[in-house]
Amino acid sequence: HRFATILAGGGGTRFWPLSRQEMPKQLINLSGNDIMLNDTIDRFKHVMPLENTIIVTNSSQAVQLESIMHLSVPAGNVLVEPVARNTAASILFAAMHIDRQFGDSLMVVSPSDHHITDVDEFKKTLTEACTVAEETDKMITIGIKPTFPSTGYGYISHASDTLRTEPCRVYEVSEFVEKPSFAVAQGYLNSGNYLWNSGIFVWKTSVIIDNFKRYLPRLHNAMLPFAACEDPERRTALIQAVYPTLQSTSIDYGILERSVDVAVIPGNFGWNDIGSWDALGAIIPPDENGNIVKAEHLGIQTRDSIVYGDERLIATIGIEGLIIADTKDALLICAKDRAQDVKDIVVLLKNKG
Ligand code: GDD
Ligand code: MG
Repeated sequence: HRFATILAGGGGTRFWPLSRQEMPKQLINLSGNDIMLNDTIDRFKHVMPLENTIIVTNSSQAVQLESIMHLSVPAGNVLVEPVARNTAASILFAAMHIDRQFGDSLMVVSPSDHHITDVDEFKKTLTEACTVAEETDKMITIGIKPTFPSTGYGYISHASDTLRTEPCRVYEVSEFVEKPSFAVAQGYLNSGNYLWNSGIFVWKTSVIIDNFKRYLPRLHNAMLPFAACEDPERRTALIQAVYPTLQSTSIDYGILERSVDVAVIPGNFGWNDIGSWDALGAIIPPDENGNIVKAEHLGIQTRDSIVYGDERLIATIGIEGLIIADTKDALLICAKDRAQDVKDIVVLLKNKG
């Protein structure tokens, strides 16, 4: 059996004010095509049957998700977390769910908020990764050639010898570093020896559960009753009780940085994590003044800016390097090189109550 597990419970706080607690990035239509979650589900449709797609979300988003998600994913495939406990917990939740029902299975983990240009190449890489994961006991990551010193990604360096060459090149990971500082990221980029972690993983449920046992034993133990429980109602109650007590860490910090069983397959399918406002240029081409506009906009001497809004006309004069994001109840004006700090506004708002 092969399953896709789509993680759709993140906050996407760097896209405030467009992205909100109840309406995070994966539920927004940034590209003008469809919401990112639906695009993600669509990509997997061709790699495994839709009934093998599992969505992990949390209760504050579950209702919206139901109304805008492609309905072809069976209701029983939506796993609802009572509270967000980051990606390690979500992945273990799904792995145990699949393993209990179907025995040891192949599991592809994917974020729900990425843009991929070359879908055919994506399918090819993913199918190859599935074959490798089925034939080995490795945790397979998909690596992307970095283009700038991002501090928001994981970095992967690998041995120069291939672990295997069929059906594709696979390398043993020598180092996995999650979200390095700018200086370190710059060094990695210059060295040419590092790939970005795409956040797409392939492994057997038995392999990932074993790695939880080893590297996150508290998390693993807390979830064991859920793994063993045959009664669906009792399972829901268990999750409600246990989840808030779980250790909150990402799969990257919790397991991938520490395990020796990680391999990487380089991928080249136009991957883009539209992580913050300044990355919007990857899906909306800039105009002749370098502006990325998805709004009714009138500009005089406006350059190198991002203008987003669907509520009313936005007019700008003599500005450069700004992000302007307008919604019904909030307006963001931000220097383009401070796009990563938008999440701090969300923290301020939360503290304000
Ligand atoms: N269900 C659920 N519950 N989903 C979650 C949770 C949670 O508590 N937290 C995050 N997610 C989802 C997000 O919606 C997203 O689709 C995915 O998991 C990854 O989480 P992010 O919060 O976006 O992670 P990141 O971008 O900081 O870092 C990860 O992705 C990078 C590539 O985009 C890491 O894997 C990096 O190493 C990687 O480079
Ligand atoms: Mg992300």
